[in-house]
Amino acid sequence: MRRVQELDERYVAHTYTRQPLVLTKGRGVFVWDVNGRRYLDFVGGIAVCSLGHCHPALTRAISSQARKLMHVSNLYYIQQQAELAELLARVTPEKIDKFFFCNSGAEAVEGAFKLAIKHAKREQIIAMQGSFHGRTAAAVGATWKRAYREPFEPLIPKNFDFVPFNDLAAVERAMNGRTAAVIVEPVQGEGGINVPSDDYLPGLRKLCDERNVVLICDEIQTGMGRTGKWFACQHWGVEPDIMTMAKALGGGFPIGCLGAGAEVMNSFSPGDHASTFGGNPLACAAAKAVVQTMLKLKLPQRAAKVGKYFKERLLELADKHGCVQEVRGLGLLLGMELSSKKIANDAVAKAMARGFLINCTADKVLRFAPPLIVERKHIDRLMKVLDQILSEVG
Ligand SMILES: Cc1ncc(COP(=O)(O)O)c(C=O)c1O
Repeated sequence: MRRVQELDERYVAHTYTRQPLVLTKGRGVFVWDVNGRRYLDFVGGIAVCSLGHCHPALTRAISSQARKLMHVSNLYYIQQQAELAELLARVTPEKIDKFFFCNSGAEAVEGAFKLAIKHAKREQIIAMQGSFHGRTAAAVGATWKRAYREPFEPLIPKNFDFVPFNDLAAVERAMNGRTAAVIVEPVQGEGGINVPSDDYLPGLRKLCDERNVVLICDEIQTGMGRTGKWFACQHWGVEPDIMTMAKALGGGFPIGCLGAGAEVMNSFSPGDHASTFGGNPLACAAAKAVVQTMLKLKLPQRAAKVGKYFKERLLELADKHGCVQEVRGLGLLLGMELSSKKIANDAVAKAMARGFLINCTADKVLRFAPPLIVERKHIDRLMKVLDQILSEVG
């Protein structure tokens, strides 16, 4: 542990505040540190490891593809890419049936902006307060938190207007003759697990239709079954024009993707957009295994069921402990807002000391995004410990 910390301190860019933990092994819902100590993982690599750690179907797909062919260029047809796209067309909203592959969430968001601007032939993007869309220049331009955005602002095109989340009238007011797209997370993740009211997504869809504006749903955190449907927009029966995916798509292998209907996606012509690694055989073999395993294990349905139980248990704790302000979320993307940042940070540290990984977002919201294979008994174990911790910190 000491050696890793020293190497990191000396040679790695200091862009992360790290927990004092070096993890070396994972299996299912558990991870182990360098000293062999086991932790129940309710972070899941931040909504990435949905199949759990080192799921045999995923490790098999990666190792077998690695022995055959890892990378060629998009100069050539790629079998695994074409097959992954076909699979995604089956699980994404009906309208979304063409895909561009890249390597991360932010890259998918960047691609979505370029596509929307090219398709609409306009340049302004409306984004939401509390949003998070990534850290690359344009994606960070649509990210609400000033600290992420402002230090780079001369580099970022001034295309983004922010409006309050869950406020349709504000979106309507912000739309003008320059508006190309509205980008929204159906449930805000980094912003604190904020679930909009039931008329919000359908209302955005209607507004965008009326104004001929592209609706982009960022499903990078909420997608791939996390909220109890394949994609969170499906809770409200809304079909976006463009959808971004990443995180759980590769189950831990880096891959990002943007999807759109043919009419929108065909606004990209050869040469408009590209990525050296995007959609290479190895990444697509991993993502194919993830989607197939999720279909086989019915993980979105499982997330809905287990998530409901989890939320009920969290609500019980909320009734009991005054330091809990609110419990919210959908499926297995749940948040517990505490009364202060210090209390939330103390709770994270105390949970870790007792062998549970949880994480805190939006200053004081405990975020729970465990592997979708998590069982009730694991949740019960966390609840017992969280109950004690909330008594101590509150
Ligand atoms: C909703 C959303 N969009 C985009 C991103 C950026 O993804 P990445 O970190 O893979 O660039 C994230 C990451 O947390 C996210 O939650």
